[in-house]
Amino acid sequence: MNTLKEKRDKAMMLGGEAAIDKRHAKGLLTARERIELLVDKGSFHELDMFVQSLSNDSSNETPGDGVITGTAKICGHTVCLFSQDFTVLGGSLGISHAHKITKVQDLAMKLRCPIIGINDSGGARIQDGVDALAGYGEIFFKNTQLSGVVPQISVILGPCAGGAAYSPALTDFVFMVDGISKMFLTGPAVIETVMGETISQEELGGAKVHAEKAGTAHFFAESEKEALEQVRNLIDMLKDEAKPKPAKRSHKSIDEIIPKDGKMPYDVRDVVTELVDGEILEVHKLFAPNIVCAFGRIDGKLVGIVANQPYYLAGALDADAADKCSRFVRYCDSFNIPILTLMDVPGCLPGVDGELRGAVRHGAKIFYAYAEATVPMVTLILRKAYGGGYVCLGSKHIGADFVYALPSAEIAVMGPESAASVIYRKEIAASEDAEKTKAEKTAEYRKEYANPYVAAAKGYIDDVIAPSEARERIASALDMLKDKQSQPVNRKHGVMPV
Ligand code: HXC
Repeated sequence: MNTLKEKRDKAMMLGGEAAIDKRHAKGLLTARERIELLVDKGSFHELDMFVQSLSNDSSNETPGDGVITGTAKICGHTVCLFSQDFTVLGGSLGISHAHKITKVQDLAMKLRCPIIGINDSGGARIQDGVDALAGYGEIFFKNTQLSGVVPQISVILGPCAGGAAYSPALTDFVFMVDGISKMFLTGPAVIETVMGETISQEELGGAKVHAEKAGTAHFFAESEKEALEQVRNLIDMLKDEAKPKPAKRSHKSIDEIIPKDGKMPYDVRDVVTELVDGEILEVHKLFAPNIVCAFGRIDGKLVGIVANQPYYLAGALDADAADKCSRFVRYCDSFNIPILTLMDVPGCLPGVDGELRGAVRHGAKIFYAYAEATVPMVTLILRKAYGGGYVCLGSKHIGADFVYALPSAEIAVMGPESAASVIYRKEIAASEDAEKTKAEKTAEYRKEYANPYVAAAKGYIDDVIAPSEARERIASALDMLKDKQSQPVNRKHGVMPV
């Protein structure tokens, strides 16, 4: 009979020295090395170290059954975690493996702490047959139960194929690494056989594809180490306790950043940076860059920030921007994180392709997410606030608590050029110099309607404020709202236009 120490030493060796060497030769870390990099030194408390596959005999051992699980601290904050071990049957998911994961999911629910899954697996363990499918089903079920209760984080550090991809997709934040992460439902070989299309694993399900196009990945990293560091930053940012109020720093007035000419782009992240205490953490940074979603702190308190990005597509909304924004708003609302919206939106991106792909259906998600949110919501209109973009992105009408506008704000049904060419069409057509008349009518319209004072006169915005006052006013509004009482509608749940 082996001693406890011998048994532990054996478990620490995962699938054996040769398998570990093979990984290192490929430049990959083991499941245990990943945990070490992720958590505070010495804080990992392992569970179920001696679990083996139920379907194997002792001559064919599966140490830990291909997954390491336990609790740990990250920046002093308790987390539950699992890390799949590719050295044991390719990290494939058998029933014991699945039950180790569901056990830490249950623990995360009890401890009300974030759960982090490091995914590196060949998918359902073929030998375990339907047991493996049952295991996935149980994990997905618990992913859904945990949604909105504790933050769920997935780090993809290897293959994540077939049904295995659905668990990360059910979590809140997905991290992927260039050249290492591969996530798809059916791989290149099957696609070639069935569809006759040829594509590499990287092109089909690599980190760039998921971060930029598919939108499955919220964070992109160049290395495993960088991804794990990013996870630590996120956990630290999401801590619900307030950080100490920062020492006063000199903030640039935001009108130095926003060009007077409404057609000139600028990077809205420069505005955000002047409004928050320190660094922001962007979510979905590479996906739908026409809208920025980020976490930051104002006077030490966590806030979710949504901001149109005039640098990309002039900040116009499209289907991907709608998905990104509405998902972020719902995350913030679930976890009681106040929302600050910075509006500079020319409306929706016009186009046949967008309409046919469901621009209306996707756009409706933004209205729904804001309208259903009960957290404190403060909106600042920076420049353009046209049409549906104005209404959906945290207007007073859709549920925001305080809406402020800068003097440069233009709140209107559409831009002055388009509006003038519609309502003064006859005058322009009848004039001798159509271009001159159009310019005059556009200027007239801008003066008359495209300013914040028409909306202010009707009480649709709460105040017009100077750019130099913005940070102070936002901070004080959020402080005022900290005890806001607002209950969701009493019903089982609504039907979000997904
Ligand atoms: C059992 C598996 C396995 C699996 C890999 N292994 N995948 N064992 N079940 N699903 C084993 C291999 O036999 C091998 O064992 C070891 O893991 C390492 O695998 P390699 O193939 O040598 O590694 P590599 O060349 O790096 O290729 C990795 C891979 C490939 C791309 C992941 O193994 C692969 O294609 N696996 C099958 C993927 C798959 O189709 N999974 C099922 C998806 S369906 P030895 O003993 O030789 O070291 C699914 C349905 C779930 O998941 C539905 C839920 C709703």
